[in-house]
Amino acid sequence: MKRITTPQIRARKGGEPLVCLTAYTAQTAKLLDPHVDLLLVGDSLGMVVYGFDSTLPVTLEMMIAHGAAVVRGARRACVVVDMPFGTYQESPEQAFRNAARILAETGADAVKLEGGEEMAATVRFLTTRGVPVCGHVGLMPQAVNTAGGFKATGRSEEEAAGVARDAASIAEAGAFAVVLEGTVEPVAAAITASLPVPTIGIGASAACDGQILVTDDVLGLFRDFTPRFVKRYAELSTQVTAAAEAYAQDVRARRFPGSEHCFPPPKKG
Ligand code: KIV
Repeated sequence: MKRITTPQIRARKGGEPLVCLTAYTAQTAKLLDPHVDLLLVGDSLGMVVYGFDSTLPVTLEMMIAHGAAVVRGARRACVVVDMPFGTYQESPEQAFRNAARILAETGADAVKLEGGEEMAATVRFLTTRGVPVCGHVGLMPQAVNTAGGFKATGRSEEEAAGVARDAASIAEAGAFAVVLEGTVEPVAAAITASLPVPTIGIGASAACDGQILVTDDVLGLFRDFTPRFVKRYAELSTQVTAAAEAYAQDVRARRFPGSEHCFPPPKKG
């Protein structure tokens, strides 16, 4: 089975909404793959998997290891790998070197990077040299220190115009899609109407061409905090806790199958 390509994602502009989720492991990718169009190996793994309080400590090596695992688990979905903080902002050449490593060493279909107008030249440099790029504007988690927190944007006219400019310049530079994070519906709707490529919203209303969420939020596995826009479709942390306790009770009560159950004696004759 061929994976969905980035031109196919781009061609979904204004059509059937794009279904996107994050994945960090082969097993999760395998489970989600039949249900989604795009799997993002997000640098949110820094918080969700590694327990950091931001995405800033995530390294290229982490993204490559998790990206390769997700590619091994995905048969159909387009796989996009986040470029971590500090691996692309310095220059277009630095971005190309690291994006090329991600594509070559993971087998992923594309990279995603955060940034607006200031990253347009880099996006153009990559896309004209064989690297498909998904943009990410609005709330940009890698800018947590300059923004003073994980803050939604676009509520004032000035902010709204800034997000629109960012999205337009990244699309114009050749991105096949743009993630729009943490902005209000009128801004998302106006950007979606004006961009020639799909917008993929996260906390940006239903007005986008598709949606993405962090899978551990959707499954109720990551409970440190849950953004208000997340709908939980399962409460797996409750089940994990119950399963761990049931296991502990079995071990303490020596309630386990005997070795004759696992390794029956060889048949005679
Ligand atoms: O890192 C991430 O998981 C993301 C999104 C959820 C869009 O960038």
